[in-house]
Amino acid sequence: MLENRHLVQPDDFTVEEIDSILDLGMKIKKTPEDYTRVCEGKLLATLFYEPSTRTRLSFEAAMNRLGGRIIGFSDPSASSVSKGESLEDTITIVGNYVDIIAMRHFESGAANIASRASKKPFINAGDGKNQHPTQTLTDLITIKANRGSLDNMTIGMCGDLKYGRTVHSLAKAMSRYTGIKFIFIAPKELEMPDYVKEQISNVEYEETTSLEEAMAKCDVLYMTRVQRERFDDPQQYERLKDSYILDTDKMSLAKDDMMVLHPLPRVNEISVEVDEDPRAKYFEQAEYGMYVRMALIMKLLGCKVVD
Ligand code: CP
Repeated sequence: MLENRHLVQPDDFTVEEIDSILDLGMKIKKTPEDYTRVCEGKLLATLFYEPSTRTRLSFEAAMNRLGGRIIGFSDPSASSVSKGESLEDTITIVGNYVDIIAMRHFESGAANIASRASKKPFINAGDGKNQHPTQTLTDLITIKANRGSLDNMTIGMCGDLKYGRTVHSLAKAMSRYTGIKFIFIAPKELEMPDYVKEQISNVEYEETTSLEEAMAKCDVLYMTRVQRERFDDPQQYERLKDSYILDTDKMSLAKDDMMVLHPLPRVNEISVEVDEDPRAKYFEQAEYGMYVRMALIMKLLGCKVVD
């Protein structure tokens, strides 16, 4: 039962519970007209303390498409946060007004604190460099829809693996499926943190600095942006920002059925010429994000299709 639960990190839900969300997301994508009133009378709060395009707008589109409504902020300086109100108090107050809360915060661990204060289902929409579980649901549904399964594949993760919350969440989530191998492709300064590697110690992984060497082995290549906003030293960012650029030459080294994913936004790390390659799935991935968030909202609110 997912009703009234919180989602702070992917392993808050069992593999079976995650699979049930993905299956519902795929059903909604096929027949969205069956779901236009399932959340009528329900209210979602989107509290975004950090910029977002996909996550906030796909949550808001999702709730609108389910027949529910939305309140919230995308600029915390216009809320009482700017007067010094605590996160816990904000969540308690908002929980009195709405049925479900999605929050993005710039601080790692903020989602955990907020979920403990929340009497309504709480969804972590990304907390600092920690976790981004609804991006992971988005990644999983895209892989499953394209490959038919989440088992038996090699996943290359490339770019900023140190600060990238999307790869931290995805590695954790994928390590629970069968026959998974990871290749972590990053400059030394942006390697996958030890604490994440410890969490996935049941899974085989290799580490390399060479994207070219990894290309032929990957069934899924998950590109990430080097995130300017996570660096204290602007010179280090300048030095590392173009460490990897996926272009058509590198794509020629990959399997014919490899998938390229990216949580987006991209900057330079995927050349626009790759967009035309049928293996580029990142725009499709962003679309799946809305359907899987519709499924998640329905499950957490216990909304059902009524005949
Ligand atoms: N993938 C993702 O989280 O994108 P936004 O930052 O635009 O929400």
